[in-house]
Amino acid sequence: MTAGTERVRALFQDRFGGEPAGFWRAPGRVNLIGEHTDYNEGFVLPFAIDRATTIALSPREDRVVRLVSTFDDAVVETDLDRAAGRDFSGWTAYPLGVAWAFGEHAVDLGAQRGFDVAIDSDVPVGAGLSSSAAIEMAVAVALDDVWGTGLDRTALARIGQRAENIAVGAPTGIMDQSASVFGQRDAAVFLDCRSLAVEQVPLGFDAAGLVLLVVDTKVEHSHATGGYRERREACERGAAALGVPALRDLTSADLARAEALLDEVDLRRVRHVVTEDERVVDAVAALRAGDLAGFGRLMYASHDSMRDDFEISVPQLDAVVEAAREAGAVGARMTGGGFGGCAIALLPAADAQRLGERVTALFAERGWRAPVPFTVIPSEGARAL
Ligand code: GLA
Repeated sequence: MTAGTERVRALFQDRFGGEPAGFWRAPGRVNLIGEHTDYNEGFVLPFAIDRATTIALSPREDRVVRLVSTFDDAVVETDLDRAAGRDFSGWTAYPLGVAWAFGEHAVDLGAQRGFDVAIDSDVPVGAGLSSSAAIEMAVAVALDDVWGTGLDRTALARIGQRAENIAVGAPTGIMDQSASVFGQRDAAVFLDCRSLAVEQVPLGFDAAGLVLLVVDTKVEHSHATGGYRERREACERGAAALGVPALRDLTSADLARAEALLDEVDLRRVRHVVTEDERVVDAVAALRAGDLAGFGRLMYASHDSMRDDFEISVPQLDAVVEAAREAGAVGARMTGGGFGGCAIALLPAADAQRLGERVTALFAERGWRAPVPFTVIPSEGARAL
């Protein structure tokens, strides 16, 4: 039993009594490249990390739903009828939103049984590592099992995204949930966000003596409000002005035409997404050719584009990327939705600790909150334990 399993088991027994019917686990993610491309129906390349949500769950005989977690000690009690009526509040919107979203996949919510669930997570919250998708996908795989719905992984990812969009109210794409369900050891998830086709791309970082260092800048962000939504709207305006269903349908050859149709800011937003989609495709080709140096250069280029064109970086994220560049890292960039959260650096294992220390010293000099550096390993996606 992992530490997470022990914790949810103890919590479940203490609050609900008895042994849970089972345990399920779903990971957070980092994105290697392809940012703000998912809701533009483009390409992304995340991987599932070795930090995850673990849940203990039992179906009930009635329609009551009871939830408890190691981050909020109180048991919350509700029922499936309220979920069906979209009556969500607080953090319970994640698991209940998932229960509701099964109803969009030919699952008759009116005929399902309620459940007791205890939740634990070691994915840092608000850090841009998809702690919310980890909860959603752990609950989704668990309900799929206990309700016997037999949905495929793409449907489960969509269910998580709908919970996020409707129950939580964040207008996000499908990348995080897809990474959490399709993750595999030592591989990234190459997802076409239009067709939802998935390919596993072997990474081989370990074999090359490289590690992926994450630096949590401790600058907190929320995607339910503000910048994320504004960027999404700019992309929609761009696609409409250029007469395409989504920015996915453009290439850099269209940018000259975009210049004539868009204001200066929207042009830069569109340029980020269009060039980022091309970088993802190039990054996959570089990985398949074993060209990690070329892959790393694309990471840096992606960061520059997010900083200058999409304007979603913050000084702390830029500082990590600059420190990584100076330390000779193969590649580095901010990861996730931006406005805070984490930066990642791909570098020789022997250099990771030194970069973490360098960044920590730099943040102290500038009077910023102490960052948290740690390495992550490409890991297996959501599953029953
Ligand atoms: C957040 C969202 C994702 C994606 C990224 C940006 O993580 O949840 O859907 O849009 O931002 O790439």
